[in-house]
Amino acid sequence: MRTFITAISIGVALQASAIGITSPSGDIVLNVDVDASGVPIYSVDYKGKNLVSDSRLGLTADETSFADGFRIESVDTVTVDRSWEPVWGEYSTVRDHFKELAVNLKADNPERALTLRFRVFDDGLGFRYELPVQKGPNYLTLRGENTQFNYTDDHKLYCIPGDYDTDEYLFSETTFSGLPEALNSYRRHSEAQRTGGNTIQTPMLLKTGDGVYVNMHEAALDGYPAMLLDVDTENYDMTSHLVPDRLGVSAYLQLPFNTPWRTLIISDDARDILASQLVLNLNEPCAIEDTSWIKPMKFVGVWWEMFTGNQKTWAYSDDHLARPGETDYTKLTPNGRHPANTDNVKKYIDFAAENGIDGVLVEGWNEGWEDWASYRKNRQFLFDAPYPDFDLPLLRDYAKEKGVKLIMHHETAANAADYALQLDRAFQFMKDNNYDAVKTGYVGAIIPRSEHHTSQWMVDHARDVIERAADYQIMVDSHEAPRPTGLCRTYPNWLAQESARGGEFESMGGNPPSHTCILPFTRLKGGPMDYTPGLFQTDLSYYGEGKTDKAGTTLARQLALYLTMPSPIQMACDLPENYNRFPDAFQFIKDVPVDWSDSKYLEAEPNKYITVARRDKHSDDWYVGAITDGNARTALIDFSFLPKGEKYEATIYEDAPDANWETNPQAYRIRKVKVDSRTRLKQHLAPGGGAAIRVVPLK
Ligand code: NOJ
Ligand code: CA
Repeated sequence: MRTFITAISIGVALQASAIGITSPSGDIVLNVDVDASGVPIYSVDYKGKNLVSDSRLGLTADETSFADGFRIESVDTVTVDRSWEPVWGEYSTVRDHFKELAVNLKADNPERALTLRFRVFDDGLGFRYELPVQKGPNYLTLRGENTQFNYTDDHKLYCIPGDYDTDEYLFSETTFSGLPEALNSYRRHSEAQRTGGNTIQTPMLLKTGDGVYVNMHEAALDGYPAMLLDVDTENYDMTSHLVPDRLGVSAYLQLPFNTPWRTLIISDDARDILASQLVLNLNEPCAIEDTSWIKPMKFVGVWWEMFTGNQKTWAYSDDHLARPGETDYTKLTPNGRHPANTDNVKKYIDFAAENGIDGVLVEGWNEGWEDWASYRKNRQFLFDAPYPDFDLPLLRDYAKEKGVKLIMHHETAANAADYALQLDRAFQFMKDNNYDAVKTGYVGAIIPRSEHHTSQWMVDHARDVIERAADYQIMVDSHEAPRPTGLCRTYPNWLAQESARGGEFESMGGNPPSHTCILPFTRLKGGPMDYTPGLFQTDLSYYGEGKTDKAGTTLARQLALYLTMPSPIQMACDLPENYNRFPDAFQFIKDVPVDWSDSKYLEAEPNKYITVARRDKHSDDWYVGAITDGNARTALIDFSFLPKGEKYEATIYEDAPDANWETNPQAYRIRKVKVDSRTRLKQHLAPGGGAAIRVVPLK
């Protein structure tokens, strides 16, 4: 790791004179000041134009206020240029290059101290509040954070509604002034859980009339609630809105405390937003000493069967009110529609072994699912109690013999308090049975009922699960957890999260093709998503049973998603029999890596298209993925990322000329061409389509 640090400390008292720093390149200019009431303010310019005009900063607690009365006591600046090597990711080395400004504020009567720390990078900036130990109260009941982002025009916004509990929404493409109407168009997902007003979630994307893109999010959310944004649709202004508990308390803090970083990724080139590692850079380095057990992987699973409308169930029996711990499950009447049974799981293990797929997820393996709908008790799921038709010792040995890893599923039904109590036993049970990865889930209202999915208590819970999983050398893929903020840098066993509307919705109303053209600009800036690509049978009417859903995708596009939705854990979500119907297309899923040494974003526009090339971390092979929205498109793939003079063979998995996500999704072609660094390929993408290319050096 190379590190250059230049520190200049200005230890003098300053009087209301603005202090500024720039990004290393000079394109981004940050100014900080206090106004006449002692309210800290900041502004941001980009390439000579104002982007964020004077905006307030501050925190309010029951015990005291950190919102006004401040003077600037001193400032510290430092320039840092260093790099680090992620355990997995889009790049083998990440450069962390910024100028930092720490503004030390003081207030009197009562005496208070607050430091604002800003880091300005070439691709954006982050800042946080640092509360040192105070002369006054050091235990705070935080009611709110008044971080303002004051824009000056009716910019375009790509966002989802504010919600304390769920982020499984489609994105709106709107403007400040259009936001109220856009938010009204959402089916009220969970009435009590939605915030009132014009509130949106992060990560979101903004685009100015001048073509400047800004991703707004937060980094290193730890010990604090998630941040939503209240939007003033007339003054083009946004203010932080911390997720409260049901008493209206945002956070209980013990000082000293640093808040998460508030982040703006800024560029006038959309590709830079996708390439940015700013959120990861603002997280702490890896906290796990030995990471050799953390292994990126692909998996199949007993999962999609339950979504295809064929009445298959997670539950073993249709008998309700079976009370785990008290009910003898062998006495329940099996419903015969339970795919997590020994024979079926063996088939998945065979399929994985035959195709070089690392893991098999099994959902519905454990006691408790009968009780979901009628849950009233304190304990629902047991994480060490397999159903009678799931022969764990047999499957454990069978999987081991075949060189396949079983992946555990822990659906908690949002009973997080009970899960926390069972955690050590559950993780030990996993280890005893040769599991080293778990998918967690929190469907429903959080128990304890005073909490929300993204309130401080749940943020703490999620962090606790990850840390304890690391103690057991367990990798985690969490669903319905607080949206990611780059903590996977610190805890790389946190391979992925759902935390957005994933592929499962193709069976529940569908995801339009544009959805996967906006997620990489928004949700993915926090960390990888378990999107579950690989859907080959996209028209669900195939299964009969009254299903009419049509996934917003062609088959070829599903292959491209392995590139455009990078994650160190990728599912091949469809049923083995569907892969067996299209073995030549499935070959791409078998081949595609999940860990990269380099990534080049070639073309991008939010909600419209993405073309990306990535180099395999363990070979000289490159892979290219291109996707479009509902419109056909010709992607222009510039192969100048290849080393000069070297020849490669490209295998192209593409939409057939007459392919179309709605009418002809399974029409694809596979062809081979020779390419080198001078190749410029015009690649057809069908409406809702895509292309996936494997590029291998010619020996
Ligand atoms: C929601 C998750 O996103 C999905 O993947 C899972 O199968 C169900 N919950 C059941 O736990
Ligand atoms: Ca979900």
